[in-house]
Amino acid sequence: MKALVDKLYENHTLSKGEYKELIDKRNTELAEYLFEKAREVRIDNYGHQIYIRGLIEFTNYCRNDCFYCGIRKSNHQVERYRLTKEEILQSCLVGYRLGFRTFVLQGGEDGYYTDDKMIDIIQSIKSNYPDCAITLSIGERSYESYKAFYDAGAERYLLRHETANPKHYESLHPTNMNLDKRKQCLYNLKDIGYQVGCGIMVGSPYQTTDSLVEDLLFIKELEPHMVGIGPFIPHQSTPFAKKEAGTMELTLYLVAIIRLILPTVLLPATTALGTIHPKGRELGILAGANVVMPNLSPKNVRQKYMLYDNKICTGDEAAECSKCMKKRMEAIGYQVVISRGDHKN
Ligand code: SAM
Ligand code: FES
Repeated sequence: MKALVDKLYENHTLSKGEYKELIDKRNTELAEYLFEKAREVRIDNYGHQIYIRGLIEFTNYCRNDCFYCGIRKSNHQVERYRLTKEEILQSCLVGYRLGFRTFVLQGGEDGYYTDDKMIDIIQSIKSNYPDCAITLSIGERSYESYKAFYDAGAERYLLRHETANPKHYESLHPTNMNLDKRKQCLYNLKDIGYQVGCGIMVGSPYQTTDSLVEDLLFIKELEPHMVGIGPFIPHQSTPFAKKEAGTMELTLYLVAIIRLILPTVLLPATTALGTIHPKGRELGILAGANVVMPNLSPKNVRQKYMLYDNKICTGDEAAECSKCMKKRMEAIGYQVVISRGDHKN
């Protein structure tokens, strides 16, 4: 089985059958070997540097009803909020002073933020912080909207594909959402010139080894600049409340595989990984990840952006989160750097 890891390390790709074997026949020893190789590739490309992104969760209104998501529109327990442009800029100011040079604007699909409003927000951030990158993560929009945001100064876009298997996609979403549309958005974003991120939840309900293999093949085909993967974690007020969470073990294993498929990819050790295990983010870095995304949202709204139960860092100030992250990374021999943290190519 180590030969398969070596083959992936050399060629950055495997056949369907080989990926399946690599996942199904995994054991602790093989995982350690895989992590070693993934770390080696990560260090070759990015040294021991950790890129940080300041996550600003600016709205929890959403028109979608994804079965897994805590802020889905049918969850009437959620107290909804929107940040004003001034509040977003204030979060950027706090972040800038803490050393952040990338701001990620994330939210539900909220029609209140029309193209004009988004353009105004993007341009304001860009003119105040010309040395910073803006990442958007606001779901599916038209080609024209994506283009307008890009022209206004947004350079990166995160849109997890969630699963590359159409049937699996249907089991996670209501019928008005479909995988083709989601994939088309990713291709549109790439075409416009964005640095694009796709991704999945590991252990989402009805996920199989076969669907994971399809995810890996899709990731290879799309060649994104970033891949966001974290475990699925149930939220008590969703249809998936009683489903099992994904495991840290499989998440780390997939992080390492993705590092070998795309050696220079930007790979976050996600908040969800830190939620299922106290050392999840550190272990993510040691499995080949090179990015962390501390929360910059104002403290008073953090409890309201509960995508899943027990999400971490919802009671902290941005400065505390940032300090905590630096310490955690230093403890495992890595350094948080003040940098936009662009993709190597
Ligand atoms: N609305 C945007 C979108 O759909 O891309 C961005 C916000 S959405 C909340 C961001 C990501 O959170 C989703 O792509 C999904 O993978 C993740 N997520 C949602 N619910 C989750 C859960 N219960 N466990 C783990 N991750 C979850
Ligand atoms: Fe829209 Fe989760 S259902 S952000």
